Amino acid sequence: IRTQVGIVGAGPAGLLLAHLLAVAGIETVVLEKRSREEIAHTHRAGILEQGTVDLITALGLDARLRSEGFTHHGIELRVDGEARRIDFADLVGRSVQLYPQQEVFTDLADGAAARGLDVRFEVTDAELEGIEGESPAIVFTDTDGARTRLACDFIAGCDGSRGISKRAIPDELRTDNFREYPFGWFGILTEAPPSADELIYAHSPHGFALISQRTPTTQRMYFQCDPSDDPDRWTDEQIWDELDRRTAAPGFALTHGPIFDKTVIPMRSYVCEPMQHGRLFLAGDAGHTVPPTGAKGLNLAAGDVSVLARALERHYREGKGDLLATYGATALRRVWKAQHFSWWMTSMLHTHPDANSFDNRRQLGELDLVTTSRAGSTYLAEAYTGWSLIPTA
Ligand code: DHB
Repeated sequence: IRTQVGIVGAGPAGLLLAHLLAVAGIETVVLEKRSREEIAHTHRAGILEQGTVDLITALGLDARLRSEGFTHHGIELRVDGEARRIDFADLVGRSVQLYPQQEVFTDLADGAAARGLDVRFEVTDAELEGIEGESPAIVFTDTDGARTRLACDFIAGCDGSRGISKRAIPDELRTDNFREYPFGWFGILTEAPPSADELIYAHSPHGFALISQRTPTTQRMYFQCDPSDDPDRWTDEQIWDELDRRTAAPGFALTHGPIFDKTVIPMRSYVCEPMQHGRLFLAGDAGHTVPPTGAKGLNLAAGDVSVLARALERHYREGKGDLLATYGATALRRVWKAQHFSWWMTSMLHTHPDANSFDNRRQLGELDLVTTSRAGSTYLAEAYTGWSLIPTA
């Protein structure tokens, strides 16, 4: 079989790209190892930048996001029990949308079926061939067990942090920029009403906690933990004790409820450079990972595929390869800005195991600056609500 752009991975990056290319009249086939159900049930972060919402809207896939999502005009930084609000609307005139990533995936997958996109779940053993030549291919095993060759003009590697695509860039040409953090996030879902109107990012001497939301009856919460912790070792009572003491503030009570999901999430920063090689282009987690603080993952994928779709459109419409040649460099500018922001939010809010009194006092000074100086809080607001998906200046 043959197509114009072969896409490895049907997560948000791969599906967004397939939609964008379809709108531009470019044909794709999307290959995915996991089942649709498995992706739809993997809990991920829940914040969409304005630009990501605009992109989904332009594709006509925003109906559920509008009816079931929530617009947030700010966040609270809670510094050792003291509430400090960051007012996005006032500082940068923008907001974000609380709408979980797996719901975005469902909307993109439903929309793909409606648009007649060729998306194949549960195909295995995919291998990339000939990416340095003129006619690359993806060879894979279809659901009926047949080994199949998908010939294409270009390959988009959208197969996440453990995918095959980035390893197709030769080791000697690839730099793996990597950082691990000495903590993870313990994430829960609970059947309880919201504890506050907005998200609370809590710094405390006992460690970081984040109180997020899902629906009027279910909530998402996280707290800093040992990255090797076993979620089943924690009873509900221990979890609530930990969340309560990290978010304690005068007049505040965290709403409790039955906990129906517990996971430990590792914290890493990673950027693959370059993000392209020959006719292979990486997008989303296949090219980079951010720690979850600030929820940049999906939004970075939206940026990458916007840049890539524009470059492919230029190639097919005008016969010019200039934007394809600079794809990686262009995408990486936004990626590195978001890498800095995610690292910074993480460093500023978490308790560091080997910190001394200087480090701890300096961190409080930083939080004080960020929450009292308009210059400081404007940076946070600008980065949190997100930069233009396609870097301009
Ligand atoms: C959520 C996750 C985040 O990492 C974050 O910064 C904000 C919200 C969430 O899952 O709701």
